[in-house]
Amino acid sequence: MEPNLLLTPGPTPIPPQVTHAMSAGMIGHRSSDFTSLMEDVQSNIRTLFGTDHSVAILTSSGTSALEASMINLIEPEDAIVIIVSGAFGDRFRSIAKTYPYEVHTYEVPWGEGLDIEDFKAFLTGKTDIKAVFSQACETSTAVVHPINELGQLVKSYSPDTLFVVDGVSAVGGMKFDMEADAIDCLVTGSQKALMLPPGLAFVAMNETARARAANNPLSRFYLDINKYFDALEAHSTPFTPAVSLIQGLAQVLSLYKAEGVEKVFERHLSMRNMLRAGLEALDLELLVDDAYASPTVTAFRSDEAELAHIKDALKKKHGITIAGGQKHLKGQILRIGHMGYMFPKDMLTVLAALEAILSDYRNQQYYGKALAAAQEAYYE
Ligand SMILES: Cc1ncc(COP(=O)(O)O)c(C=O)c1O
Repeated sequence: MEPNLLLTPGPTPIPPQVTHAMSAGMIGHRSSDFTSLMEDVQSNIRTLFGTDHSVAILTSSGTSALEASMINLIEPEDAIVIIVSGAFGDRFRSIAKTYPYEVHTYEVPWGEGLDIEDFKAFLTGKTDIKAVFSQACETSTAVVHPINELGQLVKSYSPDTLFVVDGVSAVGGMKFDMEADAIDCLVTGSQKALMLPPGLAFVAMNETARARAANNPLSRFYLDINKYFDALEAHSTPFTPAVSLIQGLAQVLSLYKAEGVEKVFERHLSMRNMLRAGLEALDLELLVDDAYASPTVTAFRSDEAELAHIKDALKKKHGITIAGGQKHLKGQILRIGHMGYMFPKDMLTVLAALEAILSDYRNQQYYGKALAAAQEAYYE
């Protein structure tokens, strides 16, 4: 009977109100019910992307939005820079290599945030870069890059160079302002801080990006973003959308509006601070420095046997699921997601479970230590 706690960095738990909205019953996607649903969604979703423009909604996973951003904005033979700081930067690079692009990779050591001065030196040596692609939050390492500074830097390199940001695991959990951050295109997926099941992808573009997309000769069909923006003019979609997820999305947006988006972002920061203080009190090493620590996911290191035990015991004894490392960080880190329908009290729950697991595993007394540190971080 005891409910499980899903603390993975996606998919994330769904609020009961959202589950309820998703089972309201089907409506025709060419009906007036659907157009009013889309109108409602569009009026509220812009706040989360920090834009006044409409946001295209695709029925596919987050990777499709990464691919859509690239193939709509970049013409054949164009030169682009991909910032690779983990598994999802690597995903951007793999997509880029599928197409006839000149791909320059800027590597950031996994677990570190981007160093602006170093990247500036890298960019300065390059000519005619059409776009820079980066994650906001690199989910595989729990790093958040300095997006605002990065955006300014890209525009100082050239005002015509586009700045494209993968906001999967960030949009909904931290503040964006596309204009102030100089972001031309911001994408995300539904199953992270948007508290929905997997299945929707989102692409926000400013006017510059829209104009590039409209004139790009590269062949594409389902991911031709112009079709989505054109259909949005009539509050519609070009193909059959995942109607129930959009019904859920309207409810998500109304829940976030009721909480207040600034409060939502603060809640995410509080969870991060609590968790980091608690993990340190358990003598677990945080992968990421404070300056780059994500408000939505936290990674910690320990030896491989201890990490395996923690993950297993959390699941079997406490009904809590967290995530392991990806690629070469597999076996070296564990990741706790804290985005969307997650709350400070969930951080206390996982930390209390970790106290019990480590007190037993290390034969050392940890009871109360992580909880005290987390509560201090929360109430200070
Ligand atoms: C930062 C980031 N980008 C892209 C993706 C890929 O999204 P999807 O698995 O929905 O295709 C993920 C998924 O975890 C992600 O965290």
